Amino acid sequence: MNRQIRLKSRPEGAPSLANFETVDAAMPSVLDGGVLRRTLYLSLDPYMRGRMSDAPSYAAPVEVGAPMCGGTVSEVIESKNPAFRKGDVVLGYDGWQQYGVSEGKELRPLDTSVPPSTALGVLGMPGMTAFVGLIDIGQPKPGETVVVSAASGAVGAVVGQLAKIRGCRAVGIAGSADKCRYVVDELGFDACINYKTDDLKSALKAACPDRIDIYFENVGGAVQAAVLKHLNRGARIPLCGLIAEYNATEIPAGPNWRPLLVNRATVRGFIVSDHQDRGPAFLKEVTPLVKSGRIKYREDVVDGLDNAPSAFLGLLAGKNFGKLIVRL
Ligand SMILES: NC(=O)c1ccc[n+]([C@@H]2O[C@H](COP(=O)([O-])OP(=O)(O)OC[C@H]3O[C@@H](n4cnc5c(N)ncnc54)[C@H](OP(=O)(O)O)[C@@H]3O)[C@@H](O)[C@H]2O)c1
Repeated sequence: MNRQIRLKSRPEGAPSLANFETVDAAMPSVLDGGVLRRTLYLSLDPYMRGRMSDAPSYAAPVEVGAPMCGGTVSEVIESKNPAFRKGDVVLGYDGWQQYGVSEGKELRPLDTSVPPSTALGVLGMPGMTAFVGLIDIGQPKPGETVVVSAASGAVGAVVGQLAKIRGCRAVGIAGSADKCRYVVDELGFDACINYKTDDLKSALKAACPDRIDIYFENVGGAVQAAVLKHLNRGARIPLCGLIAEYNATEIPAGPNWRPLLVNRATVRGFIVSDHQDRGPAFLKEVTPLVKSGRIKYREDVVDGLDNAPSAFLGLLAGKNFGKLIVRL
């Protein structure tokens, strides 16, 4: 059997376990040219909240009754395609299920010199999001101050470390004392603000004495409102995500644009999948940094496909600490 977690119903507001169902489907068969693989690791990411909803977005929703979508690292167990051999470990997009089958055009063989799960995190979509957003859109210059929200997470951790490597001051914003300690002590950020307990205004002033040149936006909401008031002239804002709003049932009131006007700031929204051409440059620069330990990463690994729904709900509540991955 092929165990799958399917979307059972569309959530209104915060999703719950009732929105998912576990089904033992038939094993997929392998036609000529096909590749059958067994999922080793499944990536859980904030964008999946958007796919549960049918509100207009940049990508089609998951259909009710279909397996949830998601990036996967898998082992080829049967191949009728000469490009793949049994035992190959590949990056794919098989979703929340034990097995996947296709002709393999979307599969990428993995670099075996690094742990395969990194292809879902620091050397995968989240790492590349950090790279495109910070380097291409933020255009950091030595001496500038970079602030990133959701700083201990899959994207934020890479943003701050790349900012340091580019000679910037890196300031994180995260949701617990443990996460802030990790961001400063392990990842080498200059400071980290706990948005749940610190007074944002005075903490930002203390952590960013020269104000903020780049705000890498991952969350929106109250954190964004506080950061905008502390921008430098000519600031850039790579608008990556707004996780504080993903469960909102009504469109929140917009930000106050005055700080953007008076500081001549640039805000640019981006979706990493539009920037596939930057993949080779990203891997070329970041793979050696990960191998040498100069860029550190943390994975929050949950065991068992059946635990994917509760782990995903935890991600939307800040319970994950590092890149959230399910090991099958
Ligand atoms: N534009 C793109 O192409 C693209 C690609 C990948 C990711 N993203 C976005 O990047 C952001 C980070 O993604 P990630 O994969 O790195 O996830 P992550 O940071 O590993 O996990 C999500 C984190 O968001 C924080 N969070 C959750 N609810 C929040 C709330 N209400 N207010 C403030 N923070 C909250 C939590 O950390 P705390 O405990 O610190 O609050 C949580 O651990 C998300 O907004 C995601 O949608 C965008």
